[in-house]
Amino acid sequence: MEKLKVGVIGLGLMGEVHTAIYQSLPYVEVVGCAEPYRPRAKEFAEKYGVKVYAEPDTLLDHVDAISVCTPDHLHKEVILKAFAKNVKALVEKPLDITAAGCEEILAAMPDESYLMVGHILRFDPRVWRAKQVLDSGELGKIYSVNVWRSNSRASGMKIGKRTSVTWFLGIHDIDMIIWLLGGKKITKVSAMGKKIFTPFWDYVISSMETEDGTLICMENGWTMPIQRVTGLDAGFKIIGEKGMMEVNLTHADARVTTEERGRSVLMDTFHWPMIGTELYGDLRIELEAFVKAVQSNAVPPVTATEATEAVRVIERIENALDKQEA
Ligand SMILES: NC(=O)c1ccc[n+]([C@@H]2O[C@H](COP(=O)([O-])OP(=O)(O)OC[C@H]3O[C@@H](n4cnc5c(N)ncnc54)[C@H](O)[C@@H]3O)[C@@H](O)[C@H]2O)c1
Repeated sequence: MEKLKVGVIGLGLMGEVHTAIYQSLPYVEVVGCAEPYRPRAKEFAEKYGVKVYAEPDTLLDHVDAISVCTPDHLHKEVILKAFAKNVKALVEKPLDITAAGCEEILAAMPDESYLMVGHILRFDPRVWRAKQVLDSGELGKIYSVNVWRSNSRASGMKIGKRTSVTWFLGIHDIDMIIWLLGGKKITKVSAMGKKIFTPFWDYVISSMETEDGTLICMENGWTMPIQRVTGLDAGFKIIGEKGMMEVNLTHADARVTTEERGRSVLMDTFHWPMIGTELYGDLRIELEAFVKAVQSNAVPPVTATEATEAVRVIERIENALDKQEA
């Protein structure tokens, strides 16, 4: 089979891991990347031996598929350019920063095979085990879901200038919970939050209800001290009529403590851990799923329609927070 020609747009943290994973897949060729910040583009071209364009337009003429790893507010622009050139896309979460923007993307999308959204937790084996248990009906009717995902203050300092904690972290949880509950619609939403370190919401408690009466309580924050052993605290607890399920999504397995670090640090063993010289984990599974869908012209595992639903819920949470402030 001919190698799939891919490009990566936006070469920050995520653009780099996408590129490294694609380069390690034998059936994929990274034809080029795009990054407007020239020092980063130059450094990246040298490190990965790829051509880096200043913008995506020319690159789109040479690829079958792209990863969109730009900041959230620029996802839509790149996706629409890709559709116009018949290129399929995997976009990092969130699909867009408004539900109206997602609708615009859906309207321009030739069909569902053209876009996958990088909701990475759908590829996490711990979440998959939970999905299997829920789908089996073993827990009976689901009464409640508690879900939490917080980062340290360092994330807020870095990303909090451009987004809120619900857009950055809560969107992961909402997509995961809707998926775990079998696509049930969230009908009621309320929220309370605090702006502490950034102009956006830094700590948010959201309560929701699904169309069939499951209550959801979600906590998101980037208020934990940076000295904590891991910058991530995440998990969920689901209680049903016949039992419950508890899943720890925090880094928990590999701890390193050195004088230089000045503290203990728990390392990522799930999302993109380095094994030998290659990156593995759920991000690799996600990228492999995207490539497979493109190669077989199939609808990818996380569709734009599903991702739009998560954006709708986060938008409602943000609206509820703004009303609380008024
Ligand atoms: N799946 C996950 O777990 C996860 C984790 C972190 C971030 N994300 C998402 O990934 C995306 C990127 O996040 P990041 O942390 O890598 O951000 P980043 O700021 O580190 O990188 C973004 C890059 O895009 C570049 N860029 C800006 N405008 C561009 C344009 N018009 N064309 C091409 N490149 C452009 C910037 O110069 C920068 O290098 C965001 O949507 C974020 O929400 C996902």
